[in-house]
Amino acid sequence: MKAIGLYQYLPVENEKSLVDVYLDRPRPGPRDILVAVQAIAVNPVDTKVRAPREGAEKPSETPQVLGWDAAGEVIDTGEEVENFRPGDRVYYAGDITRPGCYSEMHLVDERLAGHLPESLDFTSAAALPLTGLTAWEALFERLGISTTGEDAGKSILVIGGAGGVGSMAVQLARHVARLKVLASASRTKSSVWTKKLGAHHIVNHRHPLDRELQEHGFDTVDYILCLNDTDQHWNAMANAIAPQGRICGIVDNRDPLPLNLLKSKSATFAWEFMFTRSRYRTPDMQRQGEILNEIARLVDEGVLKSTVNQVLEPINAANLRQAHALIESGHTIGKIVLAGW
Ligand SMILES: NC(=O)c1ccc[n+]([C@@H]2O[C@H](COP(=O)([O-])OP(=O)(O)OC[C@H]3O[C@@H](n4cnc5c(N)ncnc54)[C@H](OP(=O)(O)O)[C@@H]3O)[C@@H](O)[C@H]2O)c1
Repeated sequence: MKAIGLYQYLPVENEKSLVDVYLDRPRPGPRDILVAVQAIAVNPVDTKVRAPREGAEKPSETPQVLGWDAAGEVIDTGEEVENFRPGDRVYYAGDITRPGCYSEMHLVDERLAGHLPESLDFTSAAALPLTGLTAWEALFERLGISTTGEDAGKSILVIGGAGGVGSMAVQLARHVARLKVLASASRTKSSVWTKKLGAHHIVNHRHPLDRELQEHGFDTVDYILCLNDTDQHWNAMANAIAPQGRICGIVDNRDPLPLNLLKSKSATFAWEFMFTRSRYRTPDMQRQGEILNEIARLVDEGVLKSTVNQVLEPINAANLRQAHALIESGHTIGKIVLAGW
């Protein structure tokens, strides 16, 4: 089967950073489904794993395959699979500890996969799983916001509103949790996109966000979801969080974070890592399949929209290098999807 892999961790400008390869068809384990991949989305995690980093420059003999956002059709199942049959349309983020989905056929544990929204094609659906799961887990599990509107009217600041995760978080916070949504964007294009998805107010993350919030009449907010540069925004988040409020971060800090800034407010800080359930094979890993089915229902009911913003065809190394370069710019809006072989 066709696949895109790497033998060395190289800058994306280097043609060998991602190369077209042929691999054997993988065989499903007991709980695996084998998926004929039709579309994939690219995420910052792909670029972080691909990029050169200390202690990892050694060329490998077998290509490493990246990619953790896919939509496709089930073509085979392991003997213990219960939720899917060949012919089912599925979408999923998968497992960072297994080969990724830059391949014509791909294995995923059935517990991590959801049924594709009926109203979407593979290209529009591929934009949703990794960012949708991250935003859902952050809002409804780590921040503990109600999915049934019990927190309606409370305020949230989403830092990085136009990115992949932000585009899902803004929609879920506004249309499912019914919060008052303040979201950050630094450019006209990203501001317009974020407002369209449901943000009530836009603040600019190039300026201190606590002061930006005050300009919109908010001395504090009940929740903060930080989707970019935790270090940059830490002090402003500590100032802006309401007493007994909650903050969730998804991006590694570079320096130690002064957690004591949150003490007098009894504010909570929680991490969200979308791969926790698959990496540690937690007893509730099936939740990810359930969340994807819930997101599919919300899409089919018209509550949520696909966040695809750019489509590259076909899925090959040249287009993936282009997508990685765009992601590395740090200013993409919504999702970049690659489709077809
Ligand atoms: N922990 C997890 O499970 C998890 C899951 C998914 C992603 N992540 C990480 O979360 C980050 C965001 O992911 P993503 O997919 O949403 O990325 P993305 O789509 O690449 O985000 C791009 C957006 O970031 C905004 N941005 C750029 N610099 C910013 C800053 N200093 N402060 C706030 N916003 C800024 C840009 O807005 P403007 O153009 O308007 O400046 C742009 O719209 C990445 O580091 C990714 O690796 C973690």
